[in-house]
Order: sequence, then structure tokens, then C-alpha cells
Amino acid sequence: MAFTLPTLGYGYDALSRSISQDIMQLHHSKHHQAYVDKLNTALEGNGRADDSLTDLLGKLEDLPEDIRTAVRNNGGGHYNHSLFWQWMSPSGGGEPTGDLSAALGEKYGDFQSFVDEFSAQATGLFGSGWVWLQPDLSLLALPNQDNPLMQGLDAPLLGLDVWEHAYYLDYKNVRADYIKAWWDVVDWQAVAERYQHAS
Ligand SMILES: [Fe+2]
Repeated sequence: MAFTLPTLGYGYDALSRSISQDIMQLHHSKHHQAYVDKLNTALEGNGRADDSLTDLLGKLEDLPEDIRTAVRNNGGGHYNHSLFWQWMSPSGGGEPTGDLSAALGEKYGDFQSFVDEFSAQATGLFGSGWVWLQPDLSLLALPNQDNPLMQGLDAPLLGLDVWEHAYYLDYKNVRADYIKAWWDVVDWQAVAERYQHAS
């Protein structure tokens, strides 16, 4: 069965205090759609069209060599963006509560120190990529559309897209301003649910 573009749980203008309607619309309906389309094209006729996305990404080495890079880039793009939309909410921002809050405090000292460390990795990532928060609360900065599944690791709790397509229209080349604004729409409830599920 072909992969499809997921519907957003909010309107394109819902996160505009941090990310404009123009970026959200382009990012979802053009960039994410292109990953979905190219992934489907790569898998056509390879007998792998019924594999789940997580299976495909966790075992890239099992794929025929001629489609491996296309699945890595576009399957990664589809997986990463599908989660990214869920990690943001018009009612997002603030700080996590409960177990996740306590665990972040234990690992990083306090919530702000976690934000600072994550933001530093996101700002410092060379070129295009993502920064990931893992269930053990470690951070991972990976290039392009690579994600923890491709490293044989657990699914991430949270991730930030630092490709220029995610911010250039709003923030030009100042990635740090985008990152700072992004915290204001992070859906900590969604992240906490993933943390509970992973624990
Ligand atoms: Fe993106």
C-alpha cells in the first residue's frame, strides 16, 4: 500500500507565532509530499511496498542497493516530518510536567539547561539535518533525513528539523532565532506520552 501524506492536526496558520502559514503550507504540502511521492516511486515494483516505514528504515541494508539511498532520504523524510507535525501544537510551549520533567531535570540539571544543550546542537549542526531527543534523554544530531531508527536506536521522543526549508522564509539565515521560537510551539504532552510509552 502506498504511503500517504498525513493530515495536520491544526491549520497551516495555527503555529504562526513561531512558524508562518507560508512555511507550514510549503513544508507540509510540497516538501513532505515530495518525500512521500519519491518514497512510493522508489518502492514500486520492488516487492517492499507492504513493509512498514519503521521496518524499512531499521533495515536499510536489506534493501536493493539501487533504491537504498532513495528510501533512506525519502523514507526518512516521510517518517521524520510525520512526527515533527505531531510534536507541535497551537497550545504548545512551556515546560513538560511529571516524569519527563523530573527525568530531564535529573539528566540536565534543569529544563533550561536541556533547552540550551538541544539548541546548541541544533544551531551547530552543519548543513541540513535534525536533532533528536532519545528515550534515554541523550541528544543526537544527524545529517539530512537520517534518524535514530537508521542507527539501530529507539524511536525518538522529539526532533527538530533544521533544514533551511523549515525556517528560511521567516528567519532568513538566522537558524538560532527559529530554534528559539520553536520551543514556544513544542507539544510537551505529545513528547511525554512518547516517553511513557518508551519507559
Ligand atoms: Fe523539513
